Amino acid sequence: MVVLGAGPAGLLLGNLLLAAGIDCVILERASRSHVENRARAGFLAPNTARILERHGLADGLHRYGHRHGTCEFRTREGRFRLDYGLLGQGEQHYVYPQQNLVTDLLRHYLDLGGRIRFDTEALAVHDADGTRPSVTAREPDGRPTRWTARYVAGCDGRHGAARRSLPPDAVRHHHDHGVTWLGLLAEAPPSLDAVGYALHERGFAGHMARTPEVTRYYLQWRRGTAADAWSEQRVWDELDVRMRAEDHGPLHRGPLLERGLFDLTCEVIEPLRHGSLLLAGDAASLLAPAAAKGANLAVLEAEMLATALTDALTRGDTTGLGTYSDRCLAHIWRAQEFTGWMTRLLHAAPDADANGGHGTGADALAGSFFQAGLRRSRIASLRTSRIHQDWFAENYVGV
Ligand code: APR
Repeated sequence: MVVLGAGPAGLLLGNLLLAAGIDCVILERASRSHVENRARAGFLAPNTARILERHGLADGLHRYGHRHGTCEFRTREGRFRLDYGLLGQGEQHYVYPQQNLVTDLLRHYLDLGGRIRFDTEALAVHDADGTRPSVTAREPDGRPTRWTARYVAGCDGRHGAARRSLPPDAVRHHHDHGVTWLGLLAEAPPSLDAVGYALHERGFAGHMARTPEVTRYYLQWRRGTAADAWSEQRVWDELDVRMRAEDHGPLHRGPLLERGLFDLTCEVIEPLRHGSLLLAGDAASLLAPAAAKGANLAVLEAEMLATALTDALTRGDTTGLGTYSDRCLAHIWRAQEFTGWMTRLLHAAPDADANGGHGTGADALAGSFFQAGLRRSRIASLRTSRIHQDWFAENYVGV
């Protein structure tokens, strides 16, 4: 087996294949230190925890992660909290920084004797329509190499070699929500004991704890503006305004360790299997970060793919591989649907210029008032309807 990418998908898949006695090598273009320190997501779904527990990979999560089950919406009409851990299926998230999960998975993979080639970029996947696909790669010293296996797992994200090697008939669904976030990592303790979603006339702001010392914030951001366009002072002042700090209490400020821009777009590749090449994680689908589902889908798909590959490689049973794409896509589309609903809840209709200037003038204005009315109604229903809150909770933590 050749696995492309050492993110949550590739590393979990590598661990499960090794545990099943299947030889595999992971090709990872970044360095080990980059992979282990890259701050990404941090909200693990209950099902993700169950998958890690099933395979003895949850030690770090149980030791350092902590449960979380409340989100707080702040709007012009006031604020309300949803203890989603007591709603729906009564399940909570784990807050556990992704770099910690990746470090756990990597250490476990190496302890099992797993092979991984850092600083080794996969360039293309060849002959995926046959039974001896190969991967051409560039070694750290620039030398070209070729890796041949029975199957290749593309876990190398949306810009990786697997996506580039898909056949022309692969369907690439793409949707742009027309919204951009400025993602911030602040060296400051969380300001709320909840995930904070602030819906303000000036734009969305978000607050998500990562550790007792570090907090993730988001600001809806005009697309095309540089991440460092504002001073730290101006960023914090804007967060105060949108989080309505005057009404609900000050935010804990601190140095901004990281800034990044996130266009809220989503993608789905169909199908996820092309002969001997199979996709998982961001290589298979990309979600807007509004509902923190990317890493959880990656773990789910990696376990499904590991089971299917193990059946095929150890027992010659390819049934699981045959249904892998449809089974994953059912989860992917459900996650896309909820993430799309959440994105429309949190943001006013995208700026006209974010959509390239379409819909200007009186019609657009009427349309945006109409959209604003729908949004107010959704928020009111979420605030008052227990049935709606149960639906929200089940989808918010589900994968
Ligand atoms: N060759 C080798 N490695 C590659 C290549 C390549 N051509 N291109 C990308 N990679 C590596 C990246 O360096 C990264 O380590 O593939 C890995 C992909 O990891 P992720 O982007 O984390 O993707 P995935 O494992 O699918 O996890 C998806 O986790 O990162 C979070 O929330 C994020 O939704 C995302 C989820």
